[in-house]
Amino acid sequence: DWTPAAMADELIDQVRDQVGDGRALCALSGGVDSSVAAALVQRAIGDQLTCVFVDHGLLRDGEAEQVKKDFVAATGVDLVVIDATEQFLTALAGVSDPEQKRKIIGAQFIRCFEQAARDIVHDRGDDQHPVKFLVQGTLYPDVVESGGGTGAANIKSHHNVGGLPDDLQFALIEPLRLLFKDEVRQVGLELGVPEEIVHRQPFPGPGLGIRIVGEVTAERLEILRAADKIARAELTAAGLDRDIWQCPVVLLADVRSVGVQGDGRTYGHPIVLRPVSSEDAMTADWTRLPYDVLARISNRITNEVADVNRVVLDVTSKPPGTIEWE
Ligand code: XMP
Repeated sequence: DWTPAAMADELIDQVRDQVGDGRALCALSGGVDSSVAAALVQRAIGDQLTCVFVDHGLLRDGEAEQVKKDFVAATGVDLVVIDATEQFLTALAGVSDPEQKRKIIGAQFIRCFEQAARDIVHDRGDDQHPVKFLVQGTLYPDVVESGGGTGAANIKSHHNVGGLPDDLQFALIEPLRLLFKDEVRQVGLELGVPEEIVHRQPFPGPGLGIRIVGEVTAERLEILRAADKIARAELTAAGLDRDIWQCPVVLLADVRSVGVQGDGRTYGHPIVLRPVSSEDAMTADWTRLPYDVLARISNRITNEVADVNRVVLDVTSKPPGTIEWE
């Protein structure tokens, strides 16, 4: 019989067997999956684990601070924060293709972890125990959609599955790779991961980088971050966070449309709202948000975010649309 406690115990045993007395890094994003994976591996191997949070500059407003505060407070894990904004934006310069973006972001993540691994060994002065393992919060749907499942086509290279370099110097520990999101949440609660983290809405590893349709630049990130902040604040204020699975906010950076504001003509970008309801992200329906909430989000974004003069609603289910636009 499946119980969260039995599942947690089994996964902890497996991790212990795999790692032995080795040292591991956990790629922490602050989301449910990597947080639960980290908590589980910490249970298994204690201080043989170091968590690494990469600030790639593709995060939402306030996110890096939140991870530093909440997760460390809750678990007491050893956390290293890497500021890699420059590195990621440089690598992404001139790139618009979604799969290429995902692969670049995945590769840069790995480079950051390799550097962190060297730093940890160096700081400890312990050459005898290099970091051999990388923990990732990969879930079953990620495996299937990256073509790792039985016969599934490669739909997207989820950054924590596809896009790994051939010369990867870590063995992967993916304790959640056979679980669905709701199961991960149950295991997380069992392990004492706080409710706010366990019920956090999903956010993709490649972050806002795959929510800008077109090239990713610092200016575009700023526009998207401002719009996203407004949408999230209004959804939270309306008490809708638990009713929706997530609501990606997307900037159509290569599209402009004509508008009018005050006395003048504008020629700005559209922002797409993509609220979805889902059980496991394998399929999804678009959420029928109340019109007054949509109106508030639209008014505020067009008034407060420079260069955005239109807000549109995505009314596509998955399939045929995926949840993210890229
Ligand atoms: P799609 O767009 O494939 O998204 O329908 C399904 C779910 O996965 C999230 N997502 C990702 N999560 N790394 C992640 O950790 C990724 O590369 C990635 N791509 C999509 C997405 O937000 C949704 O919840």
